[in-house]
Amino acid sequence: MRTKIVAGNWKMNKNLEETEALLSELSAMLPDSTAEVIVAPTFVNLQAALAALQGSTIKVSAQNMHFAESGAYTGEISADMLLNLGVDIVILGHSERRAYFGEDDAFLAKKVKTAVEKGMKTIFCFGEELEDRKSDNHFAVVESQLKNALFDLDASAWQHIVLAYEPVWAIGTGETASPEQAQEMHAFIRKTISDAYTSSVADGVSILYGGSVKPGNAAEIFSKPDVDGGLIGGASLVAADFVEIIKAI
Ligand code: 13P
Repeated sequence: MRTKIVAGNWKMNKNLEETEALLSELSAMLPDSTAEVIVAPTFVNLQAALAALQGSTIKVSAQNMHFAESGAYTGEISADMLLNLGVDIVILGHSERRAYFGEDDAFLAKKVKTAVEKGMKTIFCFGEELEDRKSDNHFAVVESQLKNALFDLDASAWQHIVLAYEPVWAIGTGETASPEQAQEMHAFIRKTISDAYTSSVADGVSILYGGSVKPGNAAEIFSKPDVDGGLIGGASLVAADFVEIIKAI
């Protein structure tokens, strides 16, 4: 049985007070769910988030980290720094990191390697751009993103990996992949992993969908057999919306 996950990527939103307020609202409204619920506030508010969520089942993730152990990397954060705080989940490879900060598959492979070596749950994001889909190249793009960043990992490392398929054209645009498009891609991703490793590795990996998931479309997307939850942007910033999405799983 794969873990169902609903994760909120807060991106560069919410100051300290707003972080505490949103988490207190969320904790008060949190429904009983078999799904793992994760929130990813910005780095400077991770500690406050952990404090606010003490005793809660909601887990805290970072949005990024560096691959190096430590050293002269001004502005960067290491895995050990996160773990030392009590954060053992990290999002890597988000399309915004790829597009605005030049993170490519080879660079991301190093980050993933460090994260899994440190035993962190690694939510690895990938997905095609609109042009790729229009030119019917989306499967090839996704396959190469997976292969380049992840397929040097040992099979045992996959226990730490969660995948988040986020078609770039659906992020923050209000346009979602249809449930059928999501299912088709998620099944393709699982088959690609099965071919590279084994079916048991592929069957064990949770594959989340991300891109304009809202209370109104979550249930239909989550009903698909290869969709194991969602990585939510905008709707995770509003407690009532995030809660509705958690209920939809
Ligand atoms: P939206 O839900 O705002 O489209 O963002 C998705 C996303 O990028 C989550 O990482």
